[in-house]
Amino acid sequence: MHTQTLSPDTYLQALVFDAYGTLFDVHSVIRRCEELWPGRGQALSQLWRAKQLEYTWLRSLMQRYENFERITEDSLRHACAALKLACEPRHIAALMDEYLRLSTFPETQDALAALGDFKLAILSNGAPAMLQAVVGNAGLNTTIPTVLSVDSLAIYKPDPRVYQLVVDTLDVPPANIGFVSSNCWDACGAKSFGFTTFWVNRGGAPMDALGVTPDHIVQNLAGIPPLLKR
Ligand code: LAC
Repeated sequence: MHTQTLSPDTYLQALVFDAYGTLFDVHSVIRRCEELWPGRGQALSQLWRAKQLEYTWLRSLMQRYENFERITEDSLRHACAALKLACEPRHIAALMDEYLRLSTFPETQDALAALGDFKLAILSNGAPAMLQAVVGNAGLNTTIPTVLSVDSLAIYKPDPRVYQLVVDTLDVPPANIGFVSSNCWDACGAKSFGFTTFWVNRGGAPMDALGVTPDHIVQNLAGIPPLLKR
């Protein structure tokens, strides 16, 4: 795995994290999916997440924004239909509730604690109420005081206006902001905007070919504090 220490002239004041897939494991819904449809949990979770992201990009291009709660429910319904899983309102309600209680990754809490010298924030596609719930249920409200949602802009990542929201809110220039995402396309979007970026590549995925590449690649969040030792 490629890693490098930040050059001495890189001075990061703030570290901003993507939420879903980066701090919170979207696939922690598999357990509940398995209870509802034994043997289909993995497939449903994968397709649900893929469709969820696809809908954010498509609705952004179509200029038909709906918030991430609606997108998450719509993509769940589509994934169930595609996999021919009989899906009743109680199933949807149960799985949407799971989204408010996603697990953090095993290293999330310790890595954030080791980064306490930085201004920490979340920048997410999530609707404000969803983010408030998932952050609160994980006990991260005091660790990460600033939680920013795309909702006020009515556009999804990787539109540059989303990353600008961090600059405007934290009042820190892009060059002094580190952005962390497990979604390679999100790390590329943030790099294109001007942040120093960290791609958390837990699954050893190949790099997306989007014309820019993240500055750093780490296997999980525990790889970030050693890169930022001053
Ligand atoms: C988010 C999606 C990209 O949290 O995972 O913004």
